[in-house]
Amino acid sequence: MRAFSYLVVVVFVFPMALLSAAEFPPVSELPISPELPDALVMFDGSRVTTNEQWEQRRRPELKALFQHYMYGYLPPKSAVRASLTAENDDLFDGKATWKIFTLHYGPEGTPPLELLLILPKGQKGVPPVFVGINFCGNHSVLTDPKVPLETSWYYGNCPGCKDNVASEESRGGQADRWNAEMIIDRGYALATFYYGDVDPDKRENDFTDGVHPHFFKPGQSEPGKHDWGAVAAWAYGAHRVIDFLEENQSVDTKRLALVGHSRLGKATLFAGALDERIKVVIPHQAGCGGTAPNRFNVGESVERINTSFPHWFNDTFPEFNRQVERLPFDQHCLVALCAPRAVLFSNAEEDQWADPNGQFNMLKAADPVYRFLGVDGLRPGAKPELGKLIDSRLGYYIRPGKHTVNADDWKAFLDFADRHLK
Ligand code: GCU
Repeated sequence: MRAFSYLVVVVFVFPMALLSAAEFPPVSELPISPELPDALVMFDGSRVTTNEQWEQRRRPELKALFQHYMYGYLPPKSAVRASLTAENDDLFDGKATWKIFTLHYGPEGTPPLELLLILPKGQKGVPPVFVGINFCGNHSVLTDPKVPLETSWYYGNCPGCKDNVASEESRGGQADRWNAEMIIDRGYALATFYYGDVDPDKRENDFTDGVHPHFFKPGQSEPGKHDWGAVAAWAYGAHRVIDFLEENQSVDTKRLALVGHSRLGKATLFAGALDERIKVVIPHQAGCGGTAPNRFNVGESVERINTSFPHWFNDTFPEFNRQVERLPFDQHCLVALCAPRAVLFSNAEEDQWADPNGQFNMLKAADPVYRFLGVDGLRPGAKPELGKLIDSRLGYYIRPGKHTVNADDWKAFLDFADRHLK
């Protein structure tokens, strides 16, 4: 009997080798797999058969693979120091209050992050919270003139941007995208920060500003092949915001959703995959490099994204440009890393660049991992229907119209959050 159990240990534990990152092969030596890799099969070919193997082996392996070949490695968590720098107790006719906290984190000199926290008033207990990464500064989320204008590099597509500087005209420029009053009326808080505070989204010399240079190892002046790109940096910012919210206790961090649109949806899914505190993950219209498959070349391709936005991923990802079939994962594995937590992929009919159908297939391909872990995933038989939220644990929403965020989207986000957080 004892000999038998030894045999079992040898057969089942030994072949499931967890490779350390340094042992992952160069891209040219990765096997070609034209079909989607099975999320429940380890890099060494062995099958995951127990929850423990998933948690102890496959989950860490997938996290490492995504960082190694695509997004770059996140640095370890760093302590957050926060100070309250502005507040207004009278928002939306007194229904809400807002506060701005300046968060310092990372090595000396890392630029601070300004967090805008909007809280509903008069509720019993602390509210659940949406953490949102914004494109155009905290002052674009509300029309209140008391919110300080963003002073660092400003994203060129924002209304009211003049030569990458925010003008007074940019104030409230995204209020109709954030729908803060609707969020408050539904009993949620909103904690939002500007992505450029963490890393300005500049194609050229990205590693000279934002967080990146402050995390260089001694003697380092350029990014290494597996160092974090901009998407990973924005995700890291979201993680530090959650650290702060846990400490601050004015929202219920056990009921926390993360939301981001487009490139910030890519950061949202990556952040959710790596951080189990994020209970509901909402990457909105994230597309290539986020929610859409890398394989099959529908909409934006891996080659195209790496050419247009070379700073978003690590310096290894472009090696897959013309051989995406060598990727040892596809984006369904990033969803699988969120299991058993709720994930909503939301889309727009006219946004074919983000491959909404391919995204639905990613949810379908992640579903077996949810089932394997003993929870439901995508509702059986569910099909995308315009304007109808599929609100199962793996959720999907597609509405008519274009690539943007509107009130219908927020209604879907809130309904989904009600279902999975309340
Ligand atoms: C471009 C890019 C997309 C990205 C989008 C955005 O369209 O090709 O990958 O999602 O910008 O972030 O707005």
